[in-house]
Amino acid sequence: MNKKMHLAGFQIAGPVAHSHAAWRHPESQVQYLSLQYYQTIARILERGKFDFLFFADVLATPRRYGNDLKDPIRRGTQGAVGLDPTMVVASLTGATDKLGLAVTKSATYYTPFDIARAFATLDHLSGGRMAWNVVTSLSQAEGQNFGHDEMLDHDQRYERAEEFLEVAFALWRSWEADALIEDAGSGVFADAARVHAIEHVGEYFKVRGPLNVPRSPQQRPVIIQAGASPRGKDYAARWAEAVFEIEPSADNRRAYYADLKSRVENFGRDPDLVKVFPAMMPFIGQTASEARDKQAMHNELADPVSGLITMSMHTDHDFAQYPIDSPIADISVPGSQGLFATVRSLSSKQDLTLRDVGKLYAQGITVPQLVGTASEVADMLEHSLDSGEADGFMISAAHSPGAFTEFVDQVVPELQRRKRFREDYSGHTLRDHLGLNKASMQPPARRSLRFSPAC
Ligand SMILES: Cc1cc2nc3c(=O)[nH]c(=O)nc-3n(C[C@H](O)[C@H](O)[C@H](O)COP(=O)(O)O)c2cc1C
Repeated sequence: MNKKMHLAGFQIAGPVAHSHAAWRHPESQVQYLSLQYYQTIARILERGKFDFLFFADVLATPRRYGNDLKDPIRRGTQGAVGLDPTMVVASLTGATDKLGLAVTKSATYYTPFDIARAFATLDHLSGGRMAWNVVTSLSQAEGQNFGHDEMLDHDQRYERAEEFLEVAFALWRSWEADALIEDAGSGVFADAARVHAIEHVGEYFKVRGPLNVPRSPQQRPVIIQAGASPRGKDYAARWAEAVFEIEPSADNRRAYYADLKSRVENFGRDPDLVKVFPAMMPFIGQTASEARDKQAMHNELADPVSGLITMSMHTDHDFAQYPIDSPIADISVPGSQGLFATVRSLSSKQDLTLRDVGKLYAQGITVPQLVGTASEVADMLEHSLDSGEADGFMISAAHSPGAFTEFVDQVVPELQRRKRFREDYSGHTLRDHLGLNKASMQPPARRSLRFSPAC
């Protein structure tokens, strides 16, 4: 039987998600400060039987490009405005019934007790539909909002994040699944013998516990990860159950998929239980030329400088220091090495200048654009799934919420007709939707990264 795909919707709680053109798009109704806007998107995706709605997040207004704060705000680039996705998702738990809800939270600037409590709470309120996208953050500007002048070194951020998740898992385990008694007659609320302090003392954290939230429906949130550097992929291989990827090249997507799955096996985990979601931005028309017109109109609205402002934030490197029509310099960056590696590979293959890359970044952070009729877009997704590139797709909207509606009304029925996507939810929790087994509460042991030196 043909493999069925998983589907997720990409969002940021602000005017810009991936597409910097979306808020200017004539078909967009980006009321990003209103609850109804996010509830509408969530209900559209739930009607489309999507696995989950994903919220990315950054913790500072961009300011790396030209060391300037004003231009990002003037242009409204990614991160200029960003509501706290935890709050937005909390309001979506009541507006939806089955849709999974994923929130990005930094393991570099938050603390394990705070985060473990927030996700256990939301997993209860949502009836077991939560996921946590664990990031190590991108920029010094974020650190400066949390009392740090400098940002921890890239790999050291991951070391801290290893301990962060070890503590969070210990906190989620601190209430055994059947500790709650709630016997009003006898007045026994819980079996205290089944609730445990964790007494963690580590290099980065000291946490006594227990958590003051009982074991949640999924036992813990589904763990998502997005970092694509070698260190990031090892982190995903140890912890992640879903991985978000941005990669415009099909060859690189295949290589990433194979590499990640083998790293997962190196941790003694089942590679089928780690789902890879490359991002895709659909442009759907009644005819292929109508779809191309939609794509052209969208891309026309994307300005290269806005893209370079966001790329400078993601990489924490000031690209304003180079002539805009020069090629991408061969440098290493302190922020997301994975996102920069994608840009480097693209620009060297296609001989692109900074302006060209800025344009692609403003169009959608280099997310591939699928252009065609609903049937042609379904073909492209099927081909990518069957070519060992993906287990599912992170759908990114060129205009919002309309692009999600078009996809749900036109492409989803086509995928269902071809038996490549679910006709209905078969369970209640996000783990059910993703086909994950019961949550393991004991993470695999840390490994000295001897098996993946530099690949
Ligand atoms: C596809 C993708 C999406 C990401 N989304 C976010 C995000 O929403 N917020 C964030 O702080 N970092 C984000 N990151 C950065 C990483 O999650 C990561 O924590 C860090 O920056 C290091 O990334 P690296 O392993 O690619 O070097 C993203 C990275 C990638 C590749």
